[in-house]
Amino acid sequence: MTDQYAVIGNPIGHTKSPLIHGIFARERAQDMSYTAIEGPLEPAGAFADVVRAFAASGGKGINITAPFKLEAFAMSDERSERAELAGAANALKFENGRVLAENFDGIGLVRDIEVNLGLRMEGRRVLLLGAGGAARGALLPFLAARPAEMVMANRDVTKGLALAAQVSGRGPLVACGYADLQRLGRFDLVVNATSASLTGDLPPVPPSVFSGQGTAYELAYGKGLTPFLRLARNAGVRGVADGVGMLVEQAAEAFLWWRGVRPATSAVIDQLTVPLA
Ligand code: ATR
Repeated sequence: MTDQYAVIGNPIGHTKSPLIHGIFARERAQDMSYTAIEGPLEPAGAFADVVRAFAASGGKGINITAPFKLEAFAMSDERSERAELAGAANALKFENGRVLAENFDGIGLVRDIEVNLGLRMEGRRVLLLGAGGAARGALLPFLAARPAEMVMANRDVTKGLALAAQVSGRGPLVACGYADLQRLGRFDLVVNATSASLTGDLPPVPPSVFSGQGTAYELAYGKGLTPFLRLARNAGVRGVADGVGMLVEQAAEAFLWWRGVRPATSAVIDQLTVPLA
């Protein structure tokens, strides 16, 4: 029987996941289907019921997108360490009646930066903007890439400080507010993991953090030159990227986890890339 997978979110019309996994499946000759499910926003518990029904009807795994990543995490029986730190799951696997939770957003981001963009993070100065779910997912994979220094800036500094305490011993993470960035010099990599771009806003990051030789990375994708990327461009940064590569790489990690084979990603990234202008 054809193995069934899906992505669940609400809204879900915009999702590229069925296209991406469809290409992966063809390329890797996997007998699987991958559909999109609009998850219920209410009543409480309805989301978990839909996921359990999908698993009961032969579903092998499911990707989770907004706003269900926390609920997916909460309903799981086993969680990876990165899902644990993020407090959120973006992929589930159903195995022997159990629900396993993973979060591949951060590792997908690191692979896009290191493999696709060719920027090794080891020994570099890295600035991560935001301390919400997206930033938490990136934290452990970033520290594992051994940057010389990693700074997390957030409007609410207490959130960043709590995260830094949680990962102490895993790498050189310093948490601060945006005003502190004025005196912290230039960074090789600046990643916007805030949700500001979703509303067309700009985090209050000073242009002094950017280096002409460095890279600015926007987690949002398909939004063209966001205010953050425009600020970086105006500050002289040549390497600007949005999250399309991260989207495809996190999908590849989930595919590998589910199917045991790694799909090629570069052709899919090329297909989905919208020029930043
Ligand atoms: P997500 O899961 O998308 O990360 P989230 O957990 O709600 O969403 O976190 C949103 C993040 O974006 C937070 O770090 C938030 O900063 P605060 O914690 O200080 O609120 C950040 N954020 C949202 N809008 C922002 C803006 N206009 N400027 C700067 N940071 C912003």
